[in-house]
Amino acid sequence: MAATMIGVIGGSGVYDLEALEDREWVAVETPWGAPSDRILTGTLGGVAMAFLPRHGRGHVHAPSSVPYRANIDALKRLGVTDVVSVSACGSFREEMAPGDFVVVNQFIDRTFAREKSFFGQGCVAHVSVAHPTCPRLGAACLAAAREAGVSVHEAGTYLAMEGPQFSTLAESKMYRDAWGADVIGMTNMPEAKLAREAELCYASVAMVTDYDSWHPHHGEVDITDIVRVLKGNADKARALVSGLPALLGAERAPCPHGCDRALDYAILTGPD
Ligand code: ADE
Repeated sequence: MAATMIGVIGGSGVYDLEALEDREWVAVETPWGAPSDRILTGTLGGVAMAFLPRHGRGHVHAPSSVPYRANIDALKRLGVTDVVSVSACGSFREEMAPGDFVVVNQFIDRTFAREKSFFGQGCVAHVSVAHPTCPRLGAACLAAAREAGVSVHEAGTYLAMEGPQFSTLAESKMYRDAWGADVIGMTNMPEAKLAREAELCYASVAMVTDYDSWHPHHGEVDITDIVRVLKGNADKARALVSGLPALLGAERAPCPHGCDRALDYAILTGPD
């Protein structure tokens, strides 16, 4: 059996995992450039962990300029097997209220200004992302959230927008009513697609900060409200992450859903 290494990509408000033992911030270089920041390695409950603040400490990378390829490649190089994405999001559903978490299982990718693949120069690959998250890892996130006392929703469709501006009212209504999205954010794509190309299990925990702009009683996105909710969400996210080692264990069998063998089923072409 292989050793589990849990990689956590922390979103807005989550820039450190203080609970990690044997902590070391390591610099990792990749052919895609440097990741968003040094990566914090350590252990939690006897399980190897790696933590990467998506926006960098000090929040220096906007969603469109996060080095997504370098981030996923750097985690892979460190030996990460399971990537848990933690990010802030807006909600299109009354019941997914600010402060709630959603274990995302589908995406609508509306981003357009980001490098989306490791392939395309010399070697072309078409990998399936029909089911873009790992059900085994998602179930562990759900269980850990419940254990941490978080109000959590077990599934949801995440609309990934380019940003950096929030949506117009017309866009917000379209995403919600016509497209059936449940939450909206600016960072989970192409991260999820790249994790699949890198044959990493990937789960996304989206932390609701606001009702975007569709809600008749909440009007537009209010930054002061977002910041207030973000702070509470960050503590809950850290509690959730602390529960993952016990649920995933230090050793892991091949992924039952084939995430770690995704390229075996991809269409791959290259020079003869
Ligand atoms: N992140 C947090 N709230 C958001 C929203 N309403 N739209 C896009 N990204 C967000």
